[in-house]
Amino acid sequence: MRAAPGVGPYPLIAPSILAADFARLADETAAVHGADWLHVDVMDNHFVPNLTLGLPIVESLLKVTDIPMDCHLMIEDPKRWAPPYAEAGAYNVTVHAEATDNPVGVARDIRAAGALAGLAIKPGTPVEPYLEILREFDTALIMSVEPGFGGQKFIAEVLPKVAILRRLIESGELTVIVEIDGGINNDTIEQAAEAGVDCFVAGSAVYSAEDPAAAVAALRRQAADASKHLTL
Ligand code: DX5
Ligand code: ZN
Repeated sequence: MRAAPGVGPYPLIAPSILAADFARLADETAAVHGADWLHVDVMDNHFVPNLTLGLPIVESLLKVTDIPMDCHLMIEDPKRWAPPYAEAGAYNVTVHAEATDNPVGVARDIRAAGALAGLAIKPGTPVEPYLEILREFDTALIMSVEPGFGGQKFIAEVLPKVAILRRLIESGELTVIVEIDGGINNDTIEQAAEAGVDCFVAGSAVYSAEDPAAAVAALRRQAADASKHLTL
């Protein structure tokens, strides 16, 4: 599989700190040492019916970890709010297609501020209308639960969207890291890997484990084995 500069080898595992103890975020970040990316869910109680954390906490977390930070912004008005996450030092900043009528403008601002730019789509949003503009992005996040909460059931019906992206990538028509988010655990990661996912976000599956770092390693092994059986 191809690797973007500074990324890989695939598969990547991105533990979501949404499932961590928010009173001990530095410790919880250290508990997933060996993770490829640290997934941080920013929710504004407008785009989604939940409120989590924002830029000040991301800035503090950046000081206590070397794990590349993957900020998933479930917020309105990303044109205004996304670039500061890149300026702060986030590795990848993902915004929702449903939250902006100018995704390309947002991507350009994020990249200009020094981060990879990601485009997320909700389970009910088709990928086809975004295939052209994905050329302006580095990552494509396919949501496999409704955004807003951790611990939900994996929606396998989104996997054809992963396969569409994978086929375009394999044929050289698109260069993007395919990320999946929601309900990923040891029962669901293989089907996602077989569909062509590069980067797997996992919240409850990692943080409910006695040893979160071991859970990350186990998920990575499982995804690596399954991705050998890519179903294009
Ligand atoms: C949901 C978030 C996810 C969430 C995943 O809106 O975007 O990142 O933390 O949690 P699990 O892995 O528990 O589904
Ligand atoms: Zn997320």
